[in-house]
Amino acid sequence: MDVAIQETAYDTEVLSGVLSSSREFLRPLRWEGPDGGVNRRELKKFRETVGFSSHILRMLRDGVGEDTVFLECSCGKSYLSFALNRLLKELEGVECTFYGVDISGPLVEKCRRIAAGLGYDNMSFTHGRTLEFDDHGDKKIDVVIALHACDKATDEAIARGIRYDARYIMVVPCCQNQLRGQIKRTQPLKDLTDFGLLRYRFADLLTETLRAQVLKGAGYHVEFHEMVSPMVTPKNLVITA
Ligand SMILES: C[S@@+](CC[C@H](N)C(=O)[O-])C[C@H]1O[C@@H](n2cnc3c(N)ncnc32)[C@H](O)[C@@H]1O
Repeated sequence: MDVAIQETAYDTEVLSGVLSSSREFLRPLRWEGPDGGVNRRELKKFRETVGFSSHILRMLRDGVGEDTVFLECSCGKSYLSFALNRLLKELEGVECTFYGVDISGPLVEKCRRIAAGLGYDNMSFTHGRTLEFDDHGDKKIDVVIALHACDKATDEAIARGIRYDARYIMVVPCCQNQLRGQIKRTQPLKDLTDFGLLRYRFADLLTETLRAQVLKGAGYHVEFHEMVSPMVTPKNLVITA
């Protein structure tokens, strides 16, 4: 049975408390500090993870249940999925299914070891490109997420989400080089892109706009949000479809 999401339960302070209250959870993610709290050197990633988790849980306001299936693209060490899994178990008593995919074999192996150590047998990880992910059997993917998937890997996550007709696609893009190199000096908006830093920002804006329009074209309602303060990271824009 689906549980209704209580918005106030997902304040970042509440989520930080839940995630940092267990050394057994923090240790394998290398988030554990000497005093038992979160390691200061890992605070940035911890805050990004908490901020994005808070956003995702608030968005799932029409409910999550045992049959909800997440796919984290370019998962890396899968901080986001490990955090969401713990939060959903602790706060809602719900065990969803989590898939992760990453092109790095060693990182995927690490995720498998961490999941086994934590006893999270509702999580599995695939070594490969996001665009080629196909390990979900007959399960319907509900929520596609990606945190700082490099460059075009964010587009692969969006493409997978559309292909699966996912209920939600939520991505926080990272660096993007695809368009910047294509903005030539001869284009009509030359004056706008004459300066290096502005050309960089313009390429970001154009990339995010095109992503949003692709999602709209596929029938999604699209919103932009900030997952954390830009003081934590300037890469804080969430595309929510
Ligand atoms: C900046 S890291 C972010 C990792 C993780 N999401 C996080 O927030 O810690 C980007 C990750 O994308 C992975 N990656 C890059 N291109 C990929 C692709 N086409 N398919 C799957 N993973 C990819 C890299 O191996 C790396 O783990």
